[in-house]
Amino acid sequence: MEYIITTEQLTKKYKNFVSVNNVSLHIRKGSIYGFLGPNGAGKSTTMKMLLGLTAPTKGSFVIDGRHFPEDRIDILKEVGSFIESPSFYANLTGRENLDIIRRILGLPETSVDDALELVGLEEFGGRLAKKYSLGMKQRLGLAGALLGRPPVLILDEPTNGLDPSGIHEIRNLVKSLPDLYDCTIMISSHMLSEIELMADDIGILNHGNLLFEGSLEDLRHSAGKAESTNLEDVFLTMVEQDNTNRKQRAKL
Ligand SMILES: Nc1ncnc2c1ncn2[C@@H]1O[C@H](COP(=O)(O)OP(=O)(O)OP(=O)(O)O)[C@@H](O)[C@H]1O
Ligand SMILES: [Mg+2]
Repeated sequence: MEYIITTEQLTKKYKNFVSVNNVSLHIRKGSIYGFLGPNGAGKSTTMKMLLGLTAPTKGSFVIDGRHFPEDRIDILKEVGSFIESPSFYANLTGRENLDIIRRILGLPETSVDDALELVGLEEFGGRLAKKYSLGMKQRLGLAGALLGRPPVLILDEPTNGLDPSGIHEIRNLVKSLPDLYDCTIMISSHMLSEIELMADDIGILNHGNLLFEGSLEDLRHSAGKAESTNLEDVFLTMVEQDNTNRKQRAKL
């Protein structure tokens, strides 16, 4: 199996609070990896560590053959990211906003139109960012992540705040990317129902611990559920079971 991202015992502590606890991930090259967990599970913190935005307390990781911390700068060149709601210069157009990122990254001018086209915003590149709908802003954020077509995309809740049709749009876009160009996508969400429709593999975090990692079939299997079981139910059962076990351990 060829993995493009692996983490080893990745840990983040804030004072005495453990936000991410010994997490070892295995993300296959060319796959869409759904990263799930309730609020506060540690998804964003894990992604921020992979993006060099916060330093791990312990552990290491490898992205596309580059090791953290030695190859920190090279890793950044490999990864396109979308973390929480991206912000833009409201009085600049979508194209101008992307051009700022493009210059920072030292990419050719053509990469802006390429990214706008990938996300279906080519007609709206000349519109001011403040006039974009929420869905268009999320698309522009994704276009920023896609500049230069990086081999790895790390997307933290790209459908956050969107209406059902916006969610549908972004989901289809994300799903189409590995075919449009050769990339691997790590995407976080609260909703298994959404991830179910696009992910090849999933990882489930709860209280900073990785409860499960594998394919959707493996998840159904390990939860002892029938093929037809709604995966949201499997996920909730798993998280509730872990929470019950925690409470029991805390009482002992
Ligand atoms: N800078 C910080 N200082 C202290 N605690 C923090 C800091 N950043 C995150 N945490 C804590 O770490 C835990 C994990 O947070 P994180 O944002 O990674 O969760 P998440 O899984 O992304 O949640 P959500 O689904 O709500 O986005 C939370 O309890 C959070 O309060
Ligand atoms: Mg988060």
